[in-house]
Amino acid sequence: MKTYTNVFDLGDLKTALAEAAEIKQDRYKYEALGKHKTCLLIFFNNSLRTRLSTQKAARNLGMDVIVLDVNQGAWKLETERGVIMDGDKSEHLLEAIPVMASYCDVIGVRSFARFESREDDYTEKILNQFIRYSGKPVFSMEAATGHPLQAFADLITIEEYKRTERPKVVLTWAPHPRALPQAVPNSFADFMNEADVDFVITHPEGYELDPQFVRGAQVEYDQKKAFEGADFIYAKNWACPGVTRPEDYGKVLCKDRSWTVDTEHMSWTNNAFFMHCLPVRRNMIVSDEVIEAPTSLVIPEAANREISATVVLKRLLQAL
Ligand code: CP
Repeated sequence: MKTYTNVFDLGDLKTALAEAAEIKQDRYKYEALGKHKTCLLIFFNNSLRTRLSTQKAARNLGMDVIVLDVNQGAWKLETERGVIMDGDKSEHLLEAIPVMASYCDVIGVRSFARFESREDDYTEKILNQFIRYSGKPVFSMEAATGHPLQAFADLITIEEYKRTERPKVVLTWAPHPRALPQAVPNSFADFMNEADVDFVITHPEGYELDPQFVRGAQVEYDQKKAFEGADFIYAKNWACPGVTRPEDYGKVLCKDRSWTVDTEHMSWTNNAFFMHCLPVRRNMIVSDEVIEAPTSLVIPEAANREISATVVLKRLLQAL
């Protein structure tokens, strides 16, 4: 594997899940693979889980790790070509990328959607510059439109907790006070569409995800209908993806708290497990009772971030 940005980079999911199970049995099994190799983790945005779990994964594989918070201590970076750099940005990404790449063997990048231009976000302008100009294997630690390390951890968690061969998995929009990117729901849909599950997406009108991620999934605007018989509820907020009305891209169109997942919502399901990628705003996205219930998987899901990252880094190292 040369890059990791979406489900297709993993290839056969059964094989990937078997590798995850193997790593979970012995997370240091491939410790020799990363000897004298350096993993550079570049954060343009905040993180708790990704920052910790990816470092742990790299160390499981015997790698050295460098973490760079671009906005804290590094020069402020210009990302647009052709700009006259007479403002507050001292360095251009086009120099910074090859310089950073010269110190490492593998690069992880976190760079969220900026909501300034749908085209820039959906063409993954920042991540793709790293892929193009670094000359090193690059993996996404959440980019503008995808969070594949999270989605792989979510798939591992569903595999571990499923009670039927083909569970019903529901991705539900839930309210949030701020505009959030579509990276997590996009990647979750990307993975569920390739997994052995019945997948349903529910959200208010106007929140349609990009067709490249929805693909053949069932979209149900009635949240109660969508929840009926569900084995897993995956809640997430996202701002308007601008599919039906491009001028609404990145806007908060709805704050309807009747979409907040509470015990009544969960009573519509088949005693479903509750999932969320975290961080989560309690009593906006999910009630205290639901997130604290024995059926809440938010902690094992976060713990599986170490496993998904170890599998991905192992594959990147094996391809060096
Ligand atoms: N789920 C997730 O990526 O968490 P962080 O933003 O804290 O890394």
